[in-house]
Formats: sequence, structure tokens, C-alpha cells
Amino acid sequence: MSKHGLIPPHGGNLVNLVVDAARGALLKQTANDLPKVALGEREQCDLELLAVGGLSPLTGFVGEQEFHSVCDTMHLTSGVPWTIPIVCPVDRGTAGRISVSQPVALTDDRGQVLAVMTVTEKYTHDKRKEAEKVFGTKEAAHPGVAVTMTQGDICLAGTLEVLTPRHDPQFADWRLTPAQTRAAFAEHGWETVVAFQTRNPIHRAHEYITKCALEVCNGLLIHPLVGQTQKGDIPADVRMKCYEALLASYYNPKNTLLSVLPAAMRYAGPREAIHHAIMRKNYGCTHFIVGRDHAGVGTYYGTYDAQKIFDEFEPGEIGIAPLKFEHTFWCKKSGAMASDKTTNSTKEERVFLSGTAVRDMLAKGQRPPVEFTRPEIADILIESMRGG
Ligand code: ADX
Repeated sequence: MSKHGLIPPHGGNLVNLVVDAARGALLKQTANDLPKVALGEREQCDLELLAVGGLSPLTGFVGEQEFHSVCDTMHLTSGVPWTIPIVCPVDRGTAGRISVSQPVALTDDRGQVLAVMTVTEKYTHDKRKEAEKVFGTKEAAHPGVAVTMTQGDICLAGTLEVLTPRHDPQFADWRLTPAQTRAAFAEHGWETVVAFQTRNPIHRAHEYITKCALEVCNGLLIHPLVGQTQKGDIPADVRMKCYEALLASYYNPKNTLLSVLPAAMRYAGPREAIHHAIMRKNYGCTHFIVGRDHAGVGTYYGTYDAQKIFDEFEPGEIGIAPLKFEHTFWCKKSGAMASDKTTNSTKEERVFLSGTAVRDMLAKGQRPPVEFTRPEIADILIESMRGG
């Protein structure tokens, strides 16, 4: 382990909201008689992250003051940077049946109890403000805004006691908590660890930037987001097969750890880049990759907006260092991956493929060129398109 110790969690302490077995058994008995609040997919993802400390220093869904502070200032009222309000919205009917200081059972979509919240606050969910401030648009065509707009009109906040972060979680073997990734980094003796956020299969550009980053860090955490994503994104189970295949052949397992982040994707571009970085700091990482249009969708954000936003914070305020990468591509002239920084090749000498072009090729059973994706990955994607 590093002589300096691991990076401190955001705000100082790693939060753990999961109760011990005795308290859990007691809560389970009483939970059946409590009013039930069925969480949406985004809130279930957020609850899991709150429970395990991925959203430290938050110890629950935010109250009204924090909501406005985060939207308006990109900081919690304590002054700690925070860019996305983590809310628990419910419809007006449900809210009407719940009074402040009352315990309620938060459930998943199958009605299984996840946590008990003792409500301390009910307030109006200012969705238009959230859309404008967090996503920079009110357009319902934006997938993150679409989720926000279908959420309830009233937000609940309160003290949380979590029985289980998630029932029957997918990818249980890779679902390491921040405490577990921190322990793994310490065991490896990694003083610096770079995290890679992704919601796609790892293509050659991703592989290139992760390896460039690993050249200057001790360890690499490949940390795909496996919570809620939009329709049309490659499903997480297919992506996991791709990550495993790629790691088995093209990375050095001594320096690379694969684990999943159970977060919901917001597609909020710059603000989400900060959010992604902060979560990875909680998982113990010292560096964070931010490439082109990080967490972007459509044409809502500029190519490098998610990099520029880091400059809006004081040096050291975020704590985890962004490693910023230019748009990379295969350069035929160099016979290698490159960016504008590293090659003077012409447009014709560069291999660019749009996501749509790749999807069309895969759907026809055609392999995208090796300059875009490794053959093993293309095979898995073609197979999945065939329903395999
Ligand atoms: S994201 O929504 O998770 O950002 P994606 O999985 O495509 O989407 O990207 C993962 C990371 O790789 C992001 O930091 C993104 O900016 C970066 N990235 C993706 N493609 C490229 C590329 N061609 N060149 C440089 N960075 C890239």
C-alpha cells in the first residue's frame, strides 16, 4: 500500500447506510406495516450508491435547500462541490399519504423493501429548474430530461436505513463497493489509480486512452456504468462480455481491475462528468478520464465542455484529477491511434465511424474494421444483434 495512503473520500468520510443484521431483521418485520414508496429505476440506482458510499458525503436524498444549492451553485450548502441533485420524487397522491417524521418503506419495482426512510422533508420538485441547470435544456427529447420530467412532483428527504442496496443484483461478482475497490487498490499497492467511465463496449479509441492513462498511473479501474441507460444503448450484459473478452486478451490483469458502477446515466454532459469523477474518487481513484463529449448525447454539449467545467472549480476542490483526452481516431498514415495533437494526417487518412454506421454494420452481420473495434468484440456484438 502507498506510503501516502489512499485518496480521502469526497467530503472526508466514506458513508455506509447499510444496517447490521439485527437492525435489518427488526426493520424487515416493521416495514410491511409502513406506507410503501416504489422507487423508479434512477432512484433505485441512487439509493444503492448512497447506501455503499458512492455518493459520499451524501447520507440521503437531498432536501430542498441542497436541491437549490446544487442546481444554482454546483456545491452543497457545506461548500463541497456537487453538480447533480440526488432526489427522491413521488407523485402527489403518494406524498399526500405521507407526513413528515413518518417512516416509509422504499421498495424496488417488485415491491421488495430496500430501505426505511424517516421523512424529514417534503418539497416541490422543481423539474424545470433541474432540467435547465443540470441538463442545460428543457427538451423532452433529451433522455435525461425525459426521465426527470416523468418523475413525481414532490420530493422526499429523510434519514435512511438501508436493508439491502439491491435485491438479486446483476454482475454481483463485479459489483464492488467503494470500500472493496479501495481495499483492492491497497492490496495491489497502487498509489495512483485512473478510472474509466463508459456506457459502451470498449472500442479502439477507449482502449487507446485507457492505456495512455495507465502509462502514467499505477492502476486502471475499468468502471462501466450498468444502471439505467437509454433505449438504444448496448445492454450492460452484452457490454460485460465485451469487457471480459478485451481484458483477457489486450490488458495486463496485474494493473487493471474491472468492476461495475451501479449508477443511472443522466446524459448531462459537463455536470455529469464532475459527478462521475466524484463517485470514482469515493471508489478510491486519484485520476479520471474525460475524453470527447463525456456523458453527452446528441448535439446538446460541445465536444470539450465536459473538460472545461473542471476549470470552474478551485484547484484541488474536486480532489480527483481529470485526465483530458482529445478526440482520438485511427490514423492510417501513422498506423496507430492518434489525435490532432499527435498527427498531421488529412481527414481522408483518418478512420472515423459514427455510432449509427457501426450499428448498421453490426446489424448486417458485418464486422467493423479492426481499426475501430477488436474482432473479438465485434463478434460478441454481432452475436447479440442476432439475439444470441
Ligand atoms: S460516456 O457517456 O460514458 O462518456 P462512452 O462510453 O462512449 O460514453 O465514453 C467513455 C469515455 O471515453 C468518455 O470519457 C468519453 O469522453 C471518452 N471517449 C469516447 N470516444 C472517444 C474518442 N474517440 N476519443 C477520445 N475520447 C473518447
